[in-house]
Amino acid sequence: MYPALFALLRRLDPEWTHEAGMAVIRAAGLPGVRRLVAGGWSPSARSATTVMGLRFRTPFGLAAGFDKNAVAVAGLGALGFGHVEVGTVTPKAQPGNPAPRLFRLPEDKGLINRMGFNNDGVDQMASRLRSIRTLADRPIVGVNIGKNRVTPAEEATADYAYVAREIAPLADYLVVNVSSPNTPGLRALGDVRQLEPLVEAVIAEAGSTPVLVKVSPDAADEELREVAEFVASSDLAGLVATNTTVRREGLLTPAETVKRMGEGGVSGSPLASRSLEVLGMVRGAVGDKCVISVGGVMTGSDVQARLDAGADLVQAYTAFVYRGPFLARHIDREMAA
Ligand SMILES: Cc1cc2nc3c(=O)[nH]c(=O)nc-3n(C[C@H](O)[C@H](O)[C@H](O)COP(=O)(O)O)c2cc1C
Repeated sequence: MYPALFALLRRLDPEWTHEAGMAVIRAAGLPGVRRLVAGGWSPSARSATTVMGLRFRTPFGLAAGFDKNAVAVAGLGALGFGHVEVGTVTPKAQPGNPAPRLFRLPEDKGLINRMGFNNDGVDQMASRLRSIRTLADRPIVGVNIGKNRVTPAEEATADYAYVAREIAPLADYLVVNVSSPNTPGLRALGDVRQLEPLVEAVIAEAGSTPVLVKVSPDAADEELREVAEFVASSDLAGLVATNTTVRREGLLTPAETVKRMGEGGVSGSPLASRSLEVLGMVRGAVGDKCVISVGGVMTGSDVQARLDAGADLVQAYTAFVYRGPFLARHIDREMAA
């Protein structure tokens, strides 16, 4: 049924469609509706896993950027995600880049986005997370943190530390995002020399909440290995690999069409092979720390392949757009088969 609906949806503006979908998922999280949507469904028992001391009912979760403001966590849980990584959240609310800023690449089963951390700010997120804290059936909630666009690079650490202080008590884990391509200068923070003091400041504020770092697929292999070794030797809990890519090679969508869309990060199938490659590279180097694999995961067999390659948890975003609201259930069924 979703392919037919998607054929219709793809005629509409992608960001409008996203907002409409969010409204429906929010409604799915309302107390009476939630039980109806969940419909007694739960992931196959053997898929439950404990990572970073947290119990995940399935290793499959929703990647950052879909629920930037933590408004739909309960609905997303009812749809079957074992965890939801909300954010990226910044200290103050900000509008992000001007629209249009989200584009579909249907031939590639991909997206291009240059959203630019549009979000309501950490205070709003804190009050929303407070309100769902005691929900018995809520998924694990990770919070992906970043800096405001107007904050100069020299003051970035203060932004990350501030958000960590405000949100860590309400989060199951934190992710330091130094890999989005849509905030000028952000990726430079992924260099291990810049990363060390930043991460130390975040860990100091995070208390007992595990902290991970999200890396870029566009970083050189040597850089990624360095970051992974740093993770192994630090108090970080692990790595999220990977964010979107600014590369445009190998796309099936005509180059002219892609060029017209402009700058931004590519996600979905075109990212799959690099994301898997990065997983292989960092897995060995981080020792027993957690690795969350994300990038181009579309099916249950993709999830299984990431687990087989050593991922502790697996996430997707773009597959949710192409395969629809019951993605987590499809994946669970495909993995069981
Ligand atoms: C529209 C959109 C917005 C995103 N926003 C964020 C974000 O705010 N923070 C972040 O760390 N990653 C963000 N991402 C990246 C995803 O979390 C994920 O790393 C990437 O899309 C690769 O996974 P996928 O191929 O399953 O989509 C965004 C992705 C998309 C498509």
